[in-house]
Amino acid sequence: MDMLFADHLSFKYEYTPEDAAPVLRDVLLHVEKGSFTALLGPNGCGKSTFAKLCNAMLLPTGGKMLVLGTDTAQEDKQLDIRRTVGLVLQNPDNQLVTTIVEEDVAFGPENLGVPPEEIRRRVDDALRAVGMYDYRSHAPHKLSGGQKQRVAIAGILAMQPDCIVLDEPTAMLDPQGRAEVLETMRRLNRERGITVLLITHYMEEAAECDRVLVLQNGRITMDGTAREIFSRPDELRAADLDLPQPADLCERLRAAGIDLPTGILNEEECVRALVQRWEAVACR
Ligand SMILES: Nc1ncnc2c1ncn2[C@@H]1O[C@H](COP(=O)(O)OP(=O)(O)OP(=O)(O)O)[C@@H](O)[C@H]1O
Ligand SMILES: [Mg+2]
Repeated sequence: MDMLFADHLSFKYEYTPEDAAPVLRDVLLHVEKGSFTALLGPNGCGKSTFAKLCNAMLLPTGGKMLVLGTDTAQEDKQLDIRRTVGLVLQNPDNQLVTTIVEEDVAFGPENLGVPPEEIRRRVDDALRAVGMYDYRSHAPHKLSGGQKQRVAIAGILAMQPDCIVLDEPTAMLDPQGRAEVLETMRRLNRERGITVLLITHYMEEAAECDRVLVLQNGRITMDGTAREIFSRPDELRAADLDLPQPADLCERLRAAGIDLPTGILNEEECVRALVQRWEAVACR
């Protein structure tokens, strides 16, 4: 069964003009259990709207959103759905509510009515999972951006979700903080089988995901492995998106007549391709 299934899903905000196009139009999308997917798209294309539809913060105005087969529009299932799909937002400061890290992580399960001894266990486990256990009695506002975002992720983990949707979780972070958050999510996906949907505008992050989706004009216009998607620079540019830097470099060199493979994803592959090319030329 799919973790998420957008079944001809459309969405239009209330109080928008009668004749305005819906933000999302007839989106048909399966997100498999245990997958690690990036969602890309130009500014204002509806990525955050889609994220909120995944955990019933918003409900479709057309079609359906199913979470593990359950329609998010079913009112008596909405608590279950929010427990199943956790949402991590861009700004960690808006997600941390208390003055001590472990209290913050306990906040979610407390609201779900989890018994105290179980909360203790979940909080310790969640903080260890994101590598923040040693900071459990620190003040969240004194942490770095990456650390705060990891605490926010621990807060979601403590609710034991099957799926975590992250809406540009690294946008406010420096490169090290971004790497920490991405590595944490990769590990949670690998070790705990948590399904991850990562909304990002960093192509380097998308390059590390198993599947990449592009949302544009209310629809999913590209869907494939990272390698497939980043082999299609013209379509990406048309969606206002870039290539990851190493892929962009190879693309420019190719345009200048140097024979290099397409679909380069990271620095390592870029260096390898350049060395191979160099050796081929040097041996001639
Ligand atoms: N509450 C709202 N009421 C009306 N329109 C809204 C509301 N929230 C967002 N919109 C509009 O819906 C569209 C999609 O917004 P959304 O925030 O989902 O896009 P996004 O892809 O996340 O953008 P960004 O890249 O800036 O994060 C935009 O045109 C936005 O102006
Ligand atoms: Mg957004």
